[in-house]
Amino acid sequence: MTKFSARLLCLLCLLSPIASSAQNIDTTKGLKDYYRKYFPIGVAVSPGSIKNPAETALILKHFNSLTPENAMKMGAIHPEQNRYNWLNADAIVNFAQEHHLLVRGHNLCWHEQTPKWFFYDKAGMLVSKDTLLQRLKDHIYTVVKHYKGKVYAWDVVNEAVSTNKDEFLRNSLWYQICGEDFIFKAFQYAHEADPKAVLFYNDYGTEQPAKREKVYQLLKKLIDAHIPVDAVGLQAHWSINDPTEKELIETIERFSSLGLKIQITELDMSIYSSKNNPADSNGYTTAIAEKQSQQYAMAFNIFRKYKDVITGVTFWNVSDRSSWLNNFPVKGRDNYPLLFDRKLHPKPPYNQVVNF
Ligand code: GLA
Repeated sequence: MTKFSARLLCLLCLLSPIASSAQNIDTTKGLKDYYRKYFPIGVAVSPGSIKNPAETALILKHFNSLTPENAMKMGAIHPEQNRYNWLNADAIVNFAQEHHLLVRGHNLCWHEQTPKWFFYDKAGMLVSKDTLLQRLKDHIYTVVKHYKGKVYAWDVVNEAVSTNKDEFLRNSLWYQICGEDFIFKAFQYAHEADPKAVLFYNDYGTEQPAKREKVYQLLKKLIDAHIPVDAVGLQAHWSINDPTEKELIETIERFSSLGLKIQITELDMSIYSSKNNPADSNGYTTAIAEKQSQQYAMAFNIFRKYKDVITGVTFWNVSDRSSWLNNFPVKGRDNYPLLFDRKLHPKPPYNQVVNF
């Protein structure tokens, strides 16, 4: 290298962290290889992604853990009281077994994507607490036992804590009928069905102090009551503006102080700050790519620092092409929240995540 080109390279490195990191990328390695000594790297998949050859190749190169995006949710897997639909979830679990990938089960109890039959009797009246808990028990026993030995961890209860300022638990039908007992019971049933499974409480917005504190109080209550909860899932539907490094560190330290393990369960970094902010960018500009790269770099730097408590990091969807954030929450708006673009190629933030 001439003196001039060396100087030019140095200058480029200073100007652009993206350019500097690109030097060290070994394209034969995938995310999971870079993170082998840290934690499994997972991805949420649909039955479609494991049938698509290009997506399958990407999944097998980069990920060693799968989460069924929708296939194990109550509505998908247990649409009617006496009917389970194993087809899609089994396809994902079989694919994982064939390729020696871990599977996180998602999820056993949630207020969304839950069929109405759980809550109502034949006359259309809300069922009693005993009946609802019995239905929950049947569901959890059947699903967890079906995947015993194949699914190593379960999101047992999803999003039970309220985001409203004056509310502790979300005012869902689960809560209206059972009070907080549905949470306690769900963990107990899951543990009885598979004592070896790692049991998670999973939620979003856990980096914001007010919500974080409520989740902390719930977890503490469960632990004090000797309920078998092992870990907390931070969904991590984040953006290029939040959380801050400080918020993330405080969150990890707060939950791990309870003796719980932590996983990042649904990671993506929206390029938009809110629903309809006129200041938001239009499309994936170089400046946005740079900002997203910095945010991903910050997050993975912290994840690596806390590798003793963080036992997994899972991305929510394979690439920008299949992200749930396209068209949501704003119809017609594309998003670019993941490490792979619509052609399944690594994006600038990928370089930051593997450059350490
Ligand atoms: C929540 C759920 C996920 C998924 C996302 C949106 O975070 O836990 O299963 O539905 O919303 O896609």
